Amino acid sequence: MSRFHPVSGARQIGAPVAGAIGMNIAAAVRVRRRGYGGWTGAVNTDYDPLDPATAAQPFDAYRALYAGGRVHYNPRRATWILSRHEDIRAALRNTDAITSTQGVTRVKISAPILVLTDGADHTRMRKQVQPGFTRGAMSDWQPMADRLAKELVSEVVANPGCDVVSRLAMPFPIRMIAHIMGIPAEDVDRFRSWSEDGVGVMNAALTPSGLRQAFGGIRAIAALRRYFRAQLAAGVLTGTDTVLGRLVDHNEDGELSDDELFFFAMLLLFAGNETTTNLIGGMFDTLAHHPDQFAMIRDHPELIPGAVEEQLRYSTPIQNLYRYTRADYRVGEVTIPSGSRLLLAFGAANRDPDVFDEPDTYRADRNPHNHIAFGYGAHMCIGAALTRMEGQAVLRELASQASAITAVGSTTWSTNTSLRGPTHLPVRLTPAR
Ligand code: HEM
Repeated sequence: MSRFHPVSGARQIGAPVAGAIGMNIAAAVRVRRRGYGGWTGAVNTDYDPLDPATAAQPFDAYRALYAGGRVHYNPRRATWILSRHEDIRAALRNTDAITSTQGVTRVKISAPILVLTDGADHTRMRKQVQPGFTRGAMSDWQPMADRLAKELVSEVVANPGCDVVSRLAMPFPIRMIAHIMGIPAEDVDRFRSWSEDGVGVMNAALTPSGLRQAFGGIRAIAALRRYFRAQLAAGVLTGTDTVLGRLVDHNEDGELSDDELFFFAMLLLFAGNETTTNLIGGMFDTLAHHPDQFAMIRDHPELIPGAVEEQLRYSTPIQNLYRYTRADYRVGEVTIPSGSRLLLAFGAANRDPDVFDEPDTYRADRNPHNHIAFGYGAHMCIGAALTRMEGQAVLRELASQASAITAVGSTTWSTNTSLRGPTHLPVRLTPAR
């Protein structure tokens, strides 16, 4: 008997999309009624995370935000902005006033997805997926991470001048996730393209490009849904030694609804893929431009775990996420009204000069435990241990196989409003003797 109880794919994906259209129109009408003039107390800003040039290089804008007040408001985007480390952590702690249930992107959406729940629903769903991601569970995946890091770093050494993003930073996490989820190796390429198109929904906006990306994302999610239905119905993904196998078992016990099972699978794919690519690509960019820091890491390999934390702070692969207020929320002298769209600028907080000394400098020995690259509070990243394992495996191989990293062309940066990392970075690795 199939463990998976099929629900119409169109209905399953259609319901959240139809709900999202309604919510976004209602929110736009509310904002128009209030007027775009700005808000007493908040500092009006033209910082625009949707501007591609700002998304690629946001750091001047962040410095301007620190120089302004604690709360900013962009009238054109009808968006409130928090940029300071402690203000963002406080907002993430207050899930009564600041909810994830209306979406964590610029476009409002509700769906039975872990990241879009609060309170008891969130606790229940998180408990179900957590066992697959504990530090202990990681030891099962460590040999694969080490093997893959060795293989892919060797390929970069053997191909001087190659694009390290497409050679290593992209294939590494997708192959890891496919392995962990129990996806057959021959499906990895399709997975990668659905994942890339799927995160396009983050750029959704009422512009030709925003709509194109939104519809491309919805198409990818529908394709993924068909794929999982077929795999699960055929029993291909069952078995307790993979994350999906464990989830399918929960599904059979009736603890997880079919919708929740599919959305879990989708979330793991989307959340763990481009983020890790951005971290690894960012690591190559940083170390190529800071040879003294790479030399320090090679001389002191015990610095590797801390150097990966510093890279997470410095790169912040998810530069920002949104929340929606469901009560008036006060920050200092400013009240953000209930029903507002709030941008949490993780990338700015990770360079907050009140928290990090010389925040724009990468220091391999800084070991910044308090960065919020993985978020903070109830929704803190469930894949943090996996990401650390992957980043450390690559850096260990790099330090042992290469004595120098040379950028042989300039780095091209992504322009996604939230996910930031190199999209093209040609490098030469000098083989270590
Ligand atoms: C560099 C890599 C990564 C970064 C920077 C990152 C960042 C984040 C952030 C900032 C959040 C908080 C979301 C929020 O507050 O709304 C989050 C949540 C999450 N991440 Fe990651 N992530 C990474 C890798 C991964 C990986 C490898 C996986 C799994 C395969 C993963 C799975 C998740 C899940 C399932 C959540 C939702 C947790 C919840 O809502 O309780 N992430 N991640």
